[in-house]
Amino acid sequence: MPRTVYLNGDWLPETEAKVSIFDRGFLFADAIYEVTAVIGGRLIDYYGHAARLQRSMAELGISCPLEPEALLVIHQEIVRRNDLREGLIYLQISRGVADRDFAYPTGVDPTLVLFTQSKPVLENPRVATGITIALLPDQRWARRDIKTVQLLPASMAKIEAVRRGADDAWLVENGFITEGSEATAHIVTRDGTLVTRGLSSALLHGITRASLLDIAHSEGIPVEERAFTPDEAKAAAEAFISSATNFVLPVTRIDDTPVGDGRAGPISRQLRERYLEIRLADAI
Ligand code: PDD
Repeated sequence: MPRTVYLNGDWLPETEAKVSIFDRGFLFADAIYEVTAVIGGRLIDYYGHAARLQRSMAELGISCPLEPEALLVIHQEIVRRNDLREGLIYLQISRGVADRDFAYPTGVDPTLVLFTQSKPVLENPRVATGITIALLPDQRWARRDIKTVQLLPASMAKIEAVRRGADDAWLVENGFITEGSEATAHIVTRDGTLVTRGLSSALLHGITRASLLDIAHSEGIPVEERAFTPDEAKAAAEAFISSATNFVLPVTRIDDTPVGDGRAGPISRQLRERYLEIRLADAI
């Protein structure tokens, strides 16, 4: 069954949805995106993703004709049309179609695309086993706070990590870990403090990260928002990643070093459980 996708106001079978070769998303990676998890046919933390989308658009001067409430209706409709129970919704907005020119064109309509991907996100065997990480240089651009589609450096890091026998990469710049190739990086020190990098243009402002910090505060887990080094990560009691579709996943090895006792740790388990409890309760 082909999926039904959304393209600029139309609902189309995926095979019929076409975007121009002059689209600036294609020519310049002049486009931003969001990924929202769906569980039981409901959206997880929609308003967090909608707020970051607005921010990305404002930073790049892309204007979307649709407000968050109208976009919510489209998200819910794409779930319904594809009978999506579990997986994700991918949304992308590019600046639009124009003759190739480095300067932003004026008076063009943005290209808005949404599609679904069905996959199990709740039952993940890696929750029990954890994932392994390779440390690699961060070769991305300097505005990682804007969620653009220019993902090639992240994709290259992921492939290099896999080539080294790891599940994913954590990226290192000027001696500090910025984040994962497609997730926020966190550690728990041996005295039980959750350490996660503070927000800046060096990393994406993770929506899952924001929820986890709230949860840590309410659970009485001490939090430090600061950069941490690869050595600190390797010496940590626990390490984990967070993202919209992975929620919280423990990291059990960094390069050749087991993290803690080399098994999924209790704080990451506690944060995952509380996160899902809270976000499932307000899913829409
Ligand atoms: N990735 N950092 C990077 C570089 C990411 O690509 C992501 C998410 C995150 C976590 O952000 P959030 O908690 O808001 O999902 C951090 C998404 C899921 C992706 O590109 O598929």
